[in-house]
Order: sequence, then C-alpha cells, then structure tokens
Amino acid sequence: MDKEKVGKFYDVVWTEYIPEYPATEEHWGIFYNTEEFEGKNILDAGCGTGIFSIIFANHGAGKVTGIDISEGSLGTARSMKEKFHLTNAEFEQQDMLNLPFADQSFDIVWAWGTVHHTTDPYRAISQLIRVLKPGGSLLLAVYTRTKLTFVHEIIRKILVHTPKRSWTFLSKVMAVFLSPVVFFFKKREKSRKGEKLEELILDWYFVPIRHYYTPEEIRDFLEKQGFEIEKFLPASGRFNSTSNFIFKARKPASRQ
Ligand SMILES: C[S@@+](CC[C@H](N)C(=O)[O-])C[C@H]1O[C@@H](n2cnc3c(N)ncnc32)[C@H](O)[C@@H]1O
Repeated sequence: MDKEKVGKFYDVVWTEYIPEYPATEEHWGIFYNTEEFEGKNILDAGCGTGIFSIIFANHGAGKVTGIDISEGSLGTARSMKEKFHLTNAEFEQQDMLNLPFADQSFDIVWAWGTVHHTTDPYRAISQLIRVLKPGGSLLLAVYTRTKLTFVHEIIRKILVHTPKRSWTFLSKVMAVFLSPVVFFFKKREKSRKGEKLEELILDWYFVPIRHYYTPEEIRDFLEKQGFEIEKFLPASGRFNSTSNFIFKARKPASRQ
C-alpha cells in the first residue's frame, strides 16, 4: 500500500536526519509568537524526526503531540525529547488521513511538508481542520507546482520503479552530476547543514507519493472552509527552499 511505502521510505531516509536546530528555530519564529502557543495544545502532523515539536515544547507549549507514520523517524523524535529533557511532548504513530483525536482538540495544528506525501492531501487537510478548535491556527507548508514540476515528476516516476537496493547508489551518482549545479547556485551548503546532497536527492526523487499544488488551490480550499489567511509566504525560507509555500490560517470561531 502506498501509505506504508511512504512510512518505510521515511524510516530509511529521515531517521538519521535531524534538521539543524538553531536555523529551524529561527525559521519557526516567523510564524508564532509566545502568546499564541504558550500553554497551548499543539499537533505536529507528520512530525518526522520531531524538530518542530521539540521547538514548540522547548518554548513553553502546554502539550505537543507529534504524529507520523514512520516509526523510524518517531524513534529519533523520542530521542530528541530525552535529549532536551522535555515532558510536554509525545510522539505517536498515526495516519494523518485517519486521525484518532476528537473533533476540536488542538489550539494549533502544524503540518510542515507533509500533506503532499499522503494519498489524499485534501482529506489530510480536512482531518487537520476537524481536530482544530474553533479560532485555532493551522500552518501548512505544501509543495509548489511550477512549470518544471512535470520534469521532476517524470524523473521521480522512473526512479521509484528501480529496485530499492539501488536507490542509495543512484542518489550518489546523481549527486555527483548535480553537485556543480548546486555549487553554482550556492544555496544548499549554507542552509542544509547536516543533510548531504545525495540524501536530499533521495528524499526528492525517490519518495513514493508526492503531490504539488498552487497556492491559489490551497487558499481556495481553506477559504471555502471559512478560514482567514493570516500569513502567506510564497517560498518557505527554511533552508532557502523555494519548493514549498506556506499558509498560516485561522479557523472561524463559530465553526465546527
Ligand atoms: C518531508 S517529511 C517532514 C517532516 C517534518 N514535518 C519536518 O519538517 O521536519 C514528511 C513526513 O510526513 C510523514 N507522512 C507522510 N504521510 C503521512 C501520513 N499519512 N500520516 C502521517 N505522517 C505522514 C512522513 O513519514 C514524513 O516523516
């Protein structure tokens, strides 16, 4: 099943990878100020190795629940929790498409780079909306569809059909060929500390499920649910990445 494939993929690709804390913390600070999350109940949906959960918890969130389908990534997230001596973060293996939480459970739902890896991103967003309290805040970072998306998709769709045991080797070969391009743009080295180019390639071109949207599509979807867009960034800024756009949006106070 595609969902399990994604979980297994991230068990391998992200388990060792923890985004750099200070750079991620600085970037995270763009979205929430202390009053918004202090003492609050937060869901980090598709938490991966847990960096954002840890940052929320470390800055005084009431309770953070990080969920992911990748047990390997969750293991790393739990080690981070120990390392930071946090008691206000929990990590659970859950599917974003079938969240086990009651309606209106969370003050903030944070989903960075995750809904587009599910089989049904709009269903995932609907689940996130369901568990968000009226007046609560939703943050979504979603892959941007561009004119070049179809090229990336052709490459990805070919590569995901190659034998799994060759993926690391293929990523390394591609890294050799792509490193001059990366060097030319000089983006990755100064921002993606801790992640090698071949790992980035593995994450980008070998992931089993990947959807892309325009900001307008996601904006329309949120506005139809009555959400008010509070912040929009056309590119994430995290790692200088132009691959994601971000919406911070508020659920209407009176809506279920
Ligand atoms: C690119 S990683 C992002 C991790 C984290 N949000 C971050 O920014 O550091 C995407 C994550 O989404 C998770 N994911 C994909 N489909 C999921 C699903 N249906 N339910 C829960 N997590 C899912 C993957 O396992 C992976 O850890």
